[in-house]
Amino acid sequence: MICLGIESTAHTFGCGIVDDKGTVLANVKDAYVTEKGGINPKYAKIHHDNVKDKVVEDALNIAKLGLKDIDLVSFSQGPGIGPCLWVGLHKAVEIAKKNNIPIVGVNHCIAHLEIGKLKTKAKDPVLLYTSGANTQVIAYEAGKYRIFGETLDQGIGNFIDAFARHIGLGFPGGPKIEKLALEGKNYIEIPYVVKGMDVSFSGILTNLKRKFDSKNYKTEDICFSLQETVFAMMVEVAERAMAHCGKKELVLGGGVACNKRLQEMCKVMCKERDAKFFVPENQFLIDNGAMIGWLGILQRKQATKNYKKMHIRPYERTDEVKVDW
Ligand code: ATP
Ligand code: FE2
Repeated sequence: MICLGIESTAHTFGCGIVDDKGTVLANVKDAYVTEKGGINPKYAKIHHDNVKDKVVEDALNIAKLGLKDIDLVSFSQGPGIGPCLWVGLHKAVEIAKKNNIPIVGVNHCIAHLEIGKLKTKAKDPVLLYTSGANTQVIAYEAGKYRIFGETLDQGIGNFIDAFARHIGLGFPGGPKIEKLALEGKNYIEIPYVVKGMDVSFSGILTNLKRKFDSKNYKTEDICFSLQETVFAMMVEVAERAMAHCGKKELVLGGGVACNKRLQEMCKVMCKERDAKFFVPENQFLIDNGAMIGWLGILQRKQATKNYKKMHIRPYERTDEVKVDW
């Protein structure tokens, strides 16, 4: 069975083609980026409308397949930005109808987790999911992926991007902050906000903006301190979830997981508690169609040809999905 997966929750329009053995035959994406400022939903939607046909065509070419070879279509149903989700839904329905094949909507956050498991061969991990809009510590317990800790306000990626925007860098800011942090030598004290099992970034953002505006600190030192502090907060919560669930594996997922310093801190924590640490390659960390295709394969029993019933779920939470695969 071959599944074509469409991703369009936020900045990226992606198309992945995956078979039921978990082989990724193609993983093509086109991301909306800016020189200055963050994601504008209107322009992100226009971006997706402009690139969607070419992205799907390129994926089929790379996989050396025609539409007739596709058995199933899956799409990111949520959580995400409404106008962006609609583009993915419509493209997926268009393909499914044309081919007269079933379609299934899947959860974007669980897709990050399942592709991590597929690519790293972790069996029963805790997932530290660090992306733009989401920051969650997730693990499987009793039929669902449960959230053991999460951000109380914005996601870590959006927090980093907001600070990057404040200091005049464009979107995405994460890689630029990472580069600046490498040049930072001095740790500046900033708030460390862990509340129970949850984290919070908005107060830290205000603090960092004030520090930057005061011109008393080197930008590189601020970026270095930002990373050291917020990554430590997440590693702390992930470690406690591992201890609580008695799990011995950690998988890192989401776009911020591309950050080498975050990877290093997770690796050290796992080594100290005799656990295994896994991180898939970057193309499967950032938003991508392959993860949607793979989750489509896993959820194929729920696929339907009742195209009219397909809809988006912009606010769907990880723990609302029944895991029966
Ligand atoms: P979500 O899964 O919440 O819908 P998302 O759609 O925003 O997330 P992802 O592609 O998973 O998308 O993550 C994008 C985020 O990853 C952006 O905030 C970006 O700045 C961040 N990011 C990418 N590379 C790095 C890096 N090297 N260091 C830190 N952050 C990074
Ligand atoms: Fe994502």
